[in-house]
Amino acid sequence: MAKLLYIESSPRKSRSKSIQVANAFLESYKAAHPDDEVVTMDLWEKQLPEFDGYTIDAKYQVLHGQGFDADQAKAWQAIVDVCDEFKSADKYLISLPMWNFGIPYKLKHYIDVIAQPGQTFSFDPEKGYSGLVTGKPAAVIYARGGSYGGDGSGMDHQKPYVEQMLGFFGFTDIHPVVIEPTLAAPDDVSETVAAAIEQAKSVASSL
Ligand SMILES: Cc1cc2nc3c(=O)[nH]c(=O)nc-3n(C[C@H](O)[C@H](O)[C@H](O)COP(=O)(O)O)c2cc1C
Repeated sequence: MAKLLYIESSPRKSRSKSIQVANAFLESYKAAHPDDEVVTMDLWEKQLPEFDGYTIDAKYQVLHGQGFDADQAKAWQAIVDVCDEFKSADKYLISLPMWNFGIPYKLKHYIDVIAQPGQTFSFDPEKGYSGLVTGKPAAVIYARGGSYGGDGSGMDHQKPYVEQMLGFFGFTDIHPVVIEPTLAAPDDVSETVAAAIEQAKSVASSL
């Protein structure tokens, strides 16, 4: 039995296109993998530790191979707990809106918390950085109001950023589903969403 972790990052719930397509993904996933466990992490409900000065000090202590003081140890344990929860999954589904050409701040907060040495990546002065979350597939559902696919404008800091971070953590098997443009005329949006749902269902059954 595998565990799928679904990370949801739009606050728009029933109006959200990324969640609508993710729900279709989950329905197909459960039909294709009836014995698997599916855990939903709603980033608008989740209480994440602040990524504050103690935490950053602790991160640098780890990077420099040094020990912690009491405040750093407490801050670091809260971070490790979130990393452990992330790494406990075998497969991942992430859904997100584009906000201001990037990602919602709740998802950025989550990424800042889990991007930790010894947890999701390692550093070796000779070999450089290595991802520690390996051999696990991830599906990512992106919604954006405009169209960015292959326009070469360099304005899309949503999909390239998420995939850079997943790659940094060690992911190589990434399945993107892009819903765009969600701010078009309603009939066109319905067609766009329907196409994304078909793609998401196909990814779900083979993930
Ligand atoms: C705060 C905010 C910022 C946004 N910024 C952009 C943007 O930079 N580019 C874009 O194409 N759409 C932008 N949009 C539109 C959303 O990407 C679009 O509505 C998308 O469908 C949101 O995903 P959701 O439906 O899953 O919530 C923005 C929406 C909000 C609420």
